[in-house]
Amino acid sequence: MCGIVGYIGQQDTKDILLTGLEKLEYRGYDSAGIATLNDKGVNVSKVKGRIATLREAVDESIKSTQGIGHTRWATHGVPSELNAHPHQSTSGRFTIVHNGVIENYVDVRDEYLENVELKSDTDTEIIVQLIEVLHNDMNDVAAAFRKAVELLTGSYAIALLDAENEDTIYVAKNKSPLLVGLGDDFNMVASDSMAALHVTDQFLELMDKETVIVRRDGVEIQKLDGTKVSREPFTAEIDSSDIEKGTYPHFMLKEIDEQPFVIRKIIQEYQDENDNIKLDADVRAAMKACDRIYIIAAGTSYHAGLLGKQFIEKLANIPVEVHVASEFSYNMPLLSENPLFVFISQSGETADSRSVLVQTKELGHPALTVTNVPGSTLSREADYTLHLHAGPEIAVASTKAYTAQMAVLAILAVDTARAKGIELDFDPMQELGIVANTMEALADQKEKFEDLAREYLQTTRNCFFIGRGTDYYVGLEGSLKLKEISYIQAEGFAGGELKHGTIALIEEGTPVIALATQENVNYSIRGNVQEVEARGANSMIISMKGLDKEGDAFVIPQVHELLTPLVSVLPMQLISYYAALHRDCDVDKPRNLAKSVTVE
Ligand code: F6R
Repeated sequence: MCGIVGYIGQQDTKDILLTGLEKLEYRGYDSAGIATLNDKGVNVSKVKGRIATLREAVDESIKSTQGIGHTRWATHGVPSELNAHPHQSTSGRFTIVHNGVIENYVDVRDEYLENVELKSDTDTEIIVQLIEVLHNDMNDVAAAFRKAVELLTGSYAIALLDAENEDTIYVAKNKSPLLVGLGDDFNMVASDSMAALHVTDQFLELMDKETVIVRRDGVEIQKLDGTKVSREPFTAEIDSSDIEKGTYPHFMLKEIDEQPFVIRKIIQEYQDENDNIKLDADVRAAMKACDRIYIIAAGTSYHAGLLGKQFIEKLANIPVEVHVASEFSYNMPLLSENPLFVFISQSGETADSRSVLVQTKELGHPALTVTNVPGSTLSREADYTLHLHAGPEIAVASTKAYTAQMAVLAILAVDTARAKGIELDFDPMQELGIVANTMEALADQKEKFEDLAREYLQTTRNCFFIGRGTDYYVGLEGSLKLKEISYIQAEGFAGGELKHGTIALIEEGTPVIALATQENVNYSIRGNVQEVEARGANSMIISMKGLDKEGDAFVIPQVHELLTPLVSVLPMQLISYYAALHRDCDVDKPRNLAKSVTVE
């Protein structure tokens, strides 16, 4: 989490940094700051709050062509002006921004900084003070910087200003994402290409444990031992218009509406001219060769994984386990003989998933990453990648990435089944085409979902989602969407499990949202609705055409039974969106959250 940006060039840097930080705000938004350097020294502005507040605080009269900036999601120390980055060394000579977590910061502090008075509660200040202490001995900034980085364990993307050098930004990276943006007479560093797309589309990828000397007229990548590394730049594929809201009030609504286009894009990307599935032959071979698949993911991606298991087991006949990444790392189950690890991650940067990838790679197991960001850490470090083609997802609450994940997993399952010679009466591309049209029809009925949100969720403190089979998994996702953006306490339950405890929470007026899109459980889920209604619940049934009954709150047009989760989630997303809107919540940037969770 946290986003960093740096610029060194000919233009005044404030606006370039602030615009970059606005694009990185999805990574954290509890405090922010920038530092600029000119011949009078370093000027630091920082605030508790968002980039908009920082913009107001920045002194317009100070001109500078070199600077660094940061938007924070607190890990060490509360969100406050004091703990906001940039942080400075005691003399004020060195100024730093950092994304990541320094695991050995207590050891470093005790061993090297005994005589230094620390000003903040952050692990970041330790780095900049360490650089100053080392520099006092070594008298060589680049060497002190490299030595400091060598002493750190944990994750970091760092940019450092030296008040006595108006032509360099020192940069280092380990585990946290960082790119160098290249221009004709300037260079930039940024956690994500989105932060620099307004000035360049040329980027250099950085590997872990590399440092970079960034100057106006060039960049020099080095390994920690000082050896130089040469690397070709790549062109960022995203268009800067992809990361604008356009006429939408929120990114979340825009991204919900984009889902039919994403599904059509996936059909296009995964189909060849003969209408066969187009997939990397190595992925196909790995799927065929494994005896069990372990899906590893977090949050919404974990919910997509639960549905991926259904697709793969039902179509390709391979057993699948789905694990929450943060649990797997510390409590690894007994593995099969030939496992394949499948990491599902929108960002490709989730630290919990990455730590499983590192562990399982050490054990020699193959890994496939299913991600929206092909150059991301999980993508680079896995053996294979499947791209979601969902376009940048900016709203913190994931929507289009979730449906894209399910679509790609369904295609993968069909491809594997065919590779194994299993005959299927299921054309995934045709069925996904129907899904896309149905999504469009649902997205056109926003007023209906807005009314339901008003009727059921305007004043409630809690809400339950129930379903059976795949509807249960969609209910889990519905409850996550609702709670994270509206702060209504929402929980998803398997319909049959309610009476084993949870039903005690149902009281007069408690909203219960039930999904009834599966034929084999239609009767039983409706029975569970009766049970909660008998205890005073205010229930709403979202059903599917053909299974609907009088009184259902909304009936979804029919799609192939396997793919119903791709459409039944839209009502969940839209109801959550409007519930949050009615409660005046910050839909795109809910409290305490960040889009990319790069700390464990
Ligand atoms: C919820 C949400 C999160 C993410 C989770 C994993 O709306 O977005 O639960 O799904 O943090 O993130 P990725 O998919 O980037 O690994």
